[in-house]
Amino acid sequence: MLDEIALMQTEAEAAIAAADSEAALEELRVKYLGRNGLVRGQFQKLGSLPKEDRPAVGAALNQLAKGLEERLEARRAELAAADADRALLADAIDITLPGRSHRVGKRHPLLATLDEMVAIFLGLGFRVVEGPEVEDYYHSFTALNYPEYHPAMDEQMTFYCGPDVLLRSQTSTVQIRAMEHMEPPVRIVVPGRCYRRDTVDATHCHTFYQLEGLLVDEGVTFADLKGTLEIFAREMFGERCHVRFRPDFFPFTEPSAEVALSCTLCEGGGCRVCSNTGYLEVGGAGEVDPNVLAGVGYDTDKYTGFAFGVGVERFTMLRHGIDDIRLFYSGDMRFLGQF
Ligand code: PHE
Repeated sequence: MLDEIALMQTEAEAAIAAADSEAALEELRVKYLGRNGLVRGQFQKLGSLPKEDRPAVGAALNQLAKGLEERLEARRAELAAADADRALLADAIDITLPGRSHRVGKRHPLLATLDEMVAIFLGLGFRVVEGPEVEDYYHSFTALNYPEYHPAMDEQMTFYCGPDVLLRSQTSTVQIRAMEHMEPPVRIVVPGRCYRRDTVDATHCHTFYQLEGLLVDEGVTFADLKGTLEIFAREMFGERCHVRFRPDFFPFTEPSAEVALSCTLCEGGGCRVCSNTGYLEVGGAGEVDPNVLAGVGYDTDKYTGFAFGVGVERFTMLRHGIDDIRLFYSGDMRFLGQF
């Protein structure tokens, strides 16, 4: 009978090792260890054995039952582990794939520059005023002291929506709109978009930004204008930057000046951005023409003022060493992504 037990053990162990599912294992458990199982059947035969053989055979049967129990349990654990591995593999992610990056939006370089320019003037006690981009002829020219058919209008050629309605060619229009609603002292800057019928090239665009400044108070002189713009230039580009004023003409200022900054890229030595002149023209300025002040009802015996208007593109080009204005409006993310 011991041989029979040994044979049963070998068979059962092989069957357990070959079982490949929980269900198959359960079947084996019932077959060997169940109430009507083969092992129990052997126990029942014990009674018919000679008395002296019973302890040994009984012990062998007990051991067989215990051993099978353990094997079944071990195999069950093995199968569960394999199942878990399979599930993990099926669910696997490829961590060598590059992730999807999210582009974070940021300010356009022109607006970032404009913000900085405005911040400097806020620090000097100016406040921000804005006006419409679609303007009438009166605020664009008449109120700014342009005589009809004056040659100074040539550089202000712009887009007309009707005989009297046009896209503003300069932020100076807002000087008038602001003064119509304010009494001196006036101390404002006007950031904004302007339009001109210019042929597009490396330094011209039909759409561009200006920052206008206007200060009207008692006793304001050209020296105040120079000092203000000097401080502004140094704040923007550092101590070594200085402002060059040369005579110019604008109908709404008298005297008028062209404003240029020393090129901080080449330190005056000459480079592409300043076209080898050492200076970059950034705008115009002057003492406000009394005709303009009188036009908005200010007392010209009491008040004088200065005004300036500078191109934001120029400042941005100087700041970043950019030599083509078209890049700003290209929408090219390879360019814009650098800022
Ligand atoms: N508006 C002028 C221009 O666009 C610049 C300017 C502004 C000149 C203020 C004098 C005073 O050309």
